[in-house]
Amino acid sequence: MTSGLAVPTELHHARITGTGSYRPKRVVPNSEIIEAIDSSDQWIRERSGIESRHRAAPDESVVDMSEHASRAALEYAGIDAGELDAVIVATVTHPYQTPAAAPELAARFGSTAAAFDLSAACAGFCHALSVANDQVRVGTAEHVLVVGVEKMLDFTDPQDRGSAFIFGDGAGAAIVSRSETPGIGPTVWGSDGEKKALITSRNSWMELAEDRDMPWPAIIMEGPSVFRWAVWSMAKEAQRALDAAGVRAQDLAAFIPHQANVRIIDQMAKELGLPKDLPIARDIRTTANTSGASVPLAMDRMLREGEVAPGGLALLIGFGAGLVWAAQVVTLP
Ligand code: UT7
Repeated sequence: MTSGLAVPTELHHARITGTGSYRPKRVVPNSEIIEAIDSSDQWIRERSGIESRHRAAPDESVVDMSEHASRAALEYAGIDAGELDAVIVATVTHPYQTPAAAPELAARFGSTAAAFDLSAACAGFCHALSVANDQVRVGTAEHVLVVGVEKMLDFTDPQDRGSAFIFGDGAGAAIVSRSETPGIGPTVWGSDGEKKALITSRNSWMELAEDRDMPWPAIIMEGPSVFRWAVWSMAKEAQRALDAAGVRAQDLAAFIPHQANVRIIDQMAKELGLPKDLPIARDIRTTANTSGASVPLAMDRMLREGEVAPGGLALLIGFGAGLVWAAQVVTLP
């Protein structure tokens, strides 16, 4: 029996054609947060690599931050917002259950493109990149705006010793467009929901509604367990992404992992046997962990500061709450 449905049969190639980023003006050095958690600047630098983070203004929303990063990415890619067919916002800190941030963002450009949010925490951008790639490959879109954005400090308990120093705010964006040559390798991704308690909101909105004495649903984590999982399991996933793309470590122009902890980044580089002189994103020092925004923020910084040449191959990996992860090799714009 034939269905009679007309479906696309031709596949296209997709690549990243531009990136952009936004870091809020206010810089919060470690010295400002250590008293509340009985810590020190030295401990935070040594255990995480973080020196400072950016904090959004109270009235600055994830949509505001996304707009700045997106305008820069559109300019880089040289396309008009009117050409966008889809807008995907990866975030876990848009403070409305509904509507999503993406339609509001699209409207800022006068765009009526398909627009939706994607919830995959620190792996959000790499998930969204995979979805955008598939859209362009199949032909449901020709240009997709992908944003990773977080206002993490609104969901951080400044008195929680295990997380107060880790997080920061910011937005990173990329344009994924149809291209003549392949520019986004196969995504290696997965989840382990059995470990959902390792990084989680402290309680649910319903628990807070039922008992107003409940603490704010800040994001907390079992740091050392997450650390071990990231170091031992995620390097293997990154290697699988290299293998799936048919790329060797020596072929890479950059390694741009989620910015969770500089020690995790260094250990992953070691496990992967990356060349000693390979540029590796260490944006965490002054941007901290911005969850879904960390990979595009780091990528855009490396490109704009000339740390990596345009057109080279970069290995990306995001991992975090869920637990979830996603990795792929991309050609830099
Ligand atoms: O983005 C999503 C994915 N997230 C991650 O990948 C985060 C992964 N985890 C980490 O990055 C690390 O676990 C942290 C940076 C969060 C913590 O570093 P750690 O080396 O795992 O510290 P720890 O919790 O094992 O604590 C080591 C010591 C303990 O003291 P003793 O028992 O050795 O005397 C803690 O009490 O450091 C102490 N400590 C602190 N000291 C000062 C724990 N937290 C602090 C603190 N300031 N904030």
